[in-house]
Amino acid sequence: MKDTTRPVAIVTGAGQGIGLSTSLALADAGHHVMCVDLNAQGAKAAAALVDGTAVPMDVTDERAVVEFVGSLDRCDVLVSNAGIWRFAPLLETTVDDAEAVLKVNLLAPLIWLKAVVPLMSEGGGGSIVHLASSAVRAVATGVGIYPASKAAVITLTEQAALELGPRGIRVNAVAPGRIVTGGTAARVAKQDEGTLGARALPLGRWGDPDDIARTIAFLCSPAASYMTGQVLWVDGGLTIGTNEYLRVVRGLKASEQNPPYEEPPLD
Ligand code: NAI
Repeated sequence: MKDTTRPVAIVTGAGQGIGLSTSLALADAGHHVMCVDLNAQGAKAAAALVDGTAVPMDVTDERAVVEFVGSLDRCDVLVSNAGIWRFAPLLETTVDDAEAVLKVNLLAPLIWLKAVVPLMSEGGGGSIVHLASSAVRAVATGVGIYPASKAAVITLTEQAALELGPRGIRVNAVAPGRIVTGGTAARVAKQDEGTLGARALPLGRWGDPDDIARTIAFLCSPAASYMTGQVLWVDGGLTIGTNEYLRVVRGLKASEQNPPYEEPPLD
């Protein structure tokens, strides 16, 4: 017999990285976690870890999503975490790549939101969390349409918060900085080679998936019951200034961490 007493959380992209840590954090908070991932092995391993349910599925497959959500008795939390990136300069970004990124990063959260809202409403409300990115504020070259897809997610979050507030459904976004996960580890290691790397960040380290998971769990908890339509930037201070740039301008070495502030020379 199904246990309908425990709140149910759906986490997409639960097979590794931020999604896996989020599944653990929500299970710790008492949720039965539905671990959704394209990678069937990842979904299975995550579900085993959190004593939840494995849901091997492509998050962009609307028919499969509607069928899956239709099989649930309740849904209290949705974390639309699955995301992809195809990094390239804009002029080398193909429309196929752009469409693929938009489909997973923007359209999937819409598909899932539409699917779960009736069930959440029946249950008296719920919490939806989207994954944005520090890339929206710290705009960089060579990252294709990824930052634009995440900027759109923020607007989607705000629109959804307006529409769904009256149903008792809160919708917020978390914007991670550089978090070391299966998806980013190789690139982060490359950035560390011979550069300031994480030392350029105010908090002096790359992020850990648990840093994001804890914030998501907070947004899904009663502690955040008056928060909706917000973006929490969880990035070690990455997006609050031009620290990295200033350190390069000042010619600081990688070993020099958090020196006293000094205006850089203007010429
Ligand atoms: P990751 O690449 O380590 O894991 C993503 C998971 O999503 C994988 O298990 C993958 O199989 C699954 N997935 C991808 N496409 C899917 C699809 N179509 N259907 C079902 N599952 C699918 O990613 P990571 O690093 O944990 O990132 C998670 C989220 O956080 C993403 O939305 C990402 O854009 C965002 N983010 C991550 C940052 C980082 O530094 N790691 C920084 C800013 C945002």
